Amino acid sequence: MRKALVTGITGQDGSFLAELLLKNGYEVHGLIRKASTFNTDRIDHIYQDPHDPNARLFLHYGDLSNGEQLTNLVYNVRPDEVYHLGALSHVKVSFDIPEYTGAVTGLGTTRLLEAIQRSGISARFYQASSSEMFGSAPAPQNEETPFQPRSPYAIAKVYAYWMTRNYREAYGMFAVNGVLFNHESPRRGETFLSRKVTRAVARIKGELQSKLYLGNLEARRDYGYAPEYVEAMWRMLQLEAPADFVLGTGVSPTMREFTQEAFEYAGLDWKKYVEIDPRYFRPTEVDDLRADAAKAHRMLDWSPKVTYKELARIMVDADLEGIGLEPIGEGDEILKRKFGDWHRWESGVTAVLKSAGNGVD
Ligand code: NAP
Ligand code: GDD
Repeated sequence: MRKALVTGITGQDGSFLAELLLKNGYEVHGLIRKASTFNTDRIDHIYQDPHDPNARLFLHYGDLSNGEQLTNLVYNVRPDEVYHLGALSHVKVSFDIPEYTGAVTGLGTTRLLEAIQRSGISARFYQASSSEMFGSAPAPQNEETPFQPRSPYAIAKVYAYWMTRNYREAYGMFAVNGVLFNHESPRRGETFLSRKVTRAVARIKGELQSKLYLGNLEARRDYGYAPEYVEAMWRMLQLEAPADFVLGTGVSPTMREFTQEAFEYAGLDWKKYVEIDPRYFRPTEVDDLRADAAKAHRMLDWSPKVTYKELARIMVDADLEGIGLEPIGEGDEILKRKFGDWHRWESGVTAVLKSAGNGVD
């Protein structure tokens, strides 16, 4: 049985990836942080009692800031594949805590690469790189586009990108960068634009909220559906030789267009509810991210199916259901039509949504 180690397993992508790896027959080990409250909502539905002799999911406490502990973990688990998804992943927050962002999002990658190297194992390594690294480089962006990062988060990711390439070149490690454009889902954190909007749409419908305060709505993002992206992460580690890939849909709506789409789906006029609050503006913004994912189409046989308009419907429906309202219904139809049984990946979402706190922004 192949073993995978996943950092960031409690996050949006980590939870979808853990489901995929379990489905593919892996033994899955996840790194989780010790928090004073439970932070495992997104993976509670796949939790397995470690006393069960058939258990294939194991969680280990740790932190990306602690190299010694990462080395022990890698040495003891001896994974065949390491998916490094853990990071301070919120761009705006990275301006507030730049040093921490460098220590975790940047140096955390080095600690993990070094843990693999020191353990003497030949694990394949996936680095969660980001389209944010392109920053102000003109769209469309692909594997050849030079990075022009515009935030502490993006700068930390550029550092991690090059460390990954350096371990590949210096030590012959099978280490790859997936340079992913934005991918969203009902499991997206509540303070990212897409989820903040769809959650507010549901709460406005349910008369739990009357206003939504947002920042810059003119930026463009290439929005895809997260479960499709974790499938490509796995495919990257199954290749014969390591290579870096850009993943995205090639379509980038403005955040205004996505917002309007989500409100209109629920029969609401967004202009009545949305107000602009400069506190959500970023000191430096990234204006236009749009992927040229031709290499992934060719070498990974990967083409995303869900459009941003469909994504808005899937997410609004899930958020309506999360607060006990009847979904409008197109979201489930889209998932069934595009993925058949695969849409059951969304199981567990409702539990996540029901436990989400109020008043987050
Ligand atoms: P996410 O939902 O914010 O999840 C981040 C994960 O990292 C969580 O499990 C979090 O744990 C963990 N983490 C944070 N700090 C840590 C630390 N010091 N030690 C150990 N674990 C820590 O992010 P995501 O959307 O799933 O994204 C996954 C990865 O892909 C991230 O590296 C992100 O930067 C990158 N990425 C994401 C996108 C996107 O559009 N989603 C695009 C490109 C790249 P807690 O649950 O305890 O907070
Ligand atoms: N979060 C947030 N909150 N963003 C807002 C808001 C708001 O109230 N109002 C406008 N925006 C704008 C941001 O300024 C940005 O231009 C856009 O909406 C998207 O912001 P986020 O959803 O926070 O995502 P992001 O694009 O900055 O970063 C995400 O994608 C990256 C890949 O390109 C994160 O997932 C990163 O971890 C990831 O690397």
